[in-house]
Amino acid sequence: MTSKIFDQAVEILERNDLGHYTVPTHGLYPFQWNWDSALSSLGQYYVDESRAWTEIETLFAHQWDDGMVPHIIFHKDDDGYYPGPDVWQTNREVPTTGITQPPVAGFAVRRLLDRAKDKHMARRRAAALLPKIAAWHDWFYRARDPEHTGLVAILHPWESGRDNSVDWDEAFERVPTEGVEEFQRRDLHHANPAHRPTQEQYKRYIWLVQLFRSLNWDYTKLHDASPFQVVDPGFNAILLRSSQDLAAMAEELGEIELAAEARARAEKGLLALNKLWSDKRQQYLCFDRVSGELIDSPSIGGLLPVFAHIDKAHSAAIAHHIDELGKRVKYLVPSHHPDDKNFDAARYWRGPAWLIVNYMISDGLKREGHYDTAARIVSDSVKLIETGGFAEYFDPMTGEPCGGLHFTWTAAMVIEFLKLTGEVA
Ligand code: GLC
Repeated sequence: MTSKIFDQAVEILERNDLGHYTVPTHGLYPFQWNWDSALSSLGQYYVDESRAWTEIETLFAHQWDDGMVPHIIFHKDDDGYYPGPDVWQTNREVPTTGITQPPVAGFAVRRLLDRAKDKHMARRRAAALLPKIAAWHDWFYRARDPEHTGLVAILHPWESGRDNSVDWDEAFERVPTEGVEEFQRRDLHHANPAHRPTQEQYKRYIWLVQLFRSLNWDYTKLHDASPFQVVDPGFNAILLRSSQDLAAMAEELGEIELAAEARARAEKGLLALNKLWSDKRQQYLCFDRVSGELIDSPSIGGLLPVFAHIDKAHSAAIAHHIDELGKRVKYLVPSHHPDDKNFDAARYWRGPAWLIVNYMISDGLKREGHYDTAARIVSDSVKLIETGGFAEYFDPMTGEPCGGLHFTWTAAMVIEFLKLTGEVA
């Protein structure tokens, strides 16, 4: 069974591979997505080591001069997706969006470097990527942490990667819908509307894009102008983990100054993250920078920090929290707490389980010694695939596959899980 699953996963990676980049799935997402590529490279490594590096290199080939790495790269035209380049208007030769996504590339590159069979190639390619990853991280602290708090804000829910999470609902109310251009959504042609965002939410997504576009995507203006500025613990944890990994790689490759800077930022960020901890929820919470308040929404964004080197007490509390969740759902880890009134088992990031988040959480738990909790997450992830195939995400109660099918990063994570558990040699 497992080797059959492995072969199917490889087939999906190949089917979605357009040579120098991979689409998340044909139809619903026909371009290159930022964190999809970074995480998918980990599975690609087992199929073709060199190809895995290319995936990340292509992403960074479209980095902006200011350091930002865009959330989507529109390598070629496709009418099947909205909002396309004509809406973003970022004036780039190869069009991209003007917002970013979770900076997981630093983590992925270190993993590729550590595992490399071809050490010489890996060191050469990692060394070339190093300053680019550092420039992206610099951009975050300049553009998204103007008051030097140690934590960065997202300005659009799509930046979080957890696009439709309950976490954004309240802050999103502040985003108007007046003046939004007429538009025709395309996602509903490819996926069940009950699994997708509502029309009202979509209008707000577009309103923000129009605002940023009117500011010519000038990062020095966007942060303060945005009515939506949220500090997401999950997003920050990914940046911190990537900073820790960047520092380790820089040390290995002799970039001592870069290493020291990345490490100092990670340490400052980890301290600042403590302010987002909720004793009541036993997890981290998002912080709304506009209202100045924590957002009391128990989502997976508050469990993800275990992926960064947080302290022992907090990681133990998160492991316990996940064990408790495991009694309420059949498949870990739900993206929202099932006891919360806003939990929706099938709707995009409001309840379903996603294998990429499972991977990052289980990686952190293992590193902190919470092997049983990590093992349950991994075994639930493999079961989801056995019963539901390589879907975008899954109902954590029933295992029903949701969203798009034949998903690249789902396939890549399955390869990772099977390799890590030794089920496939
Ligand atoms: C959805 C997800 C986002 C992902 C993209 C492509 O928008 O919310 O995290 O990057 O699809 O898979």
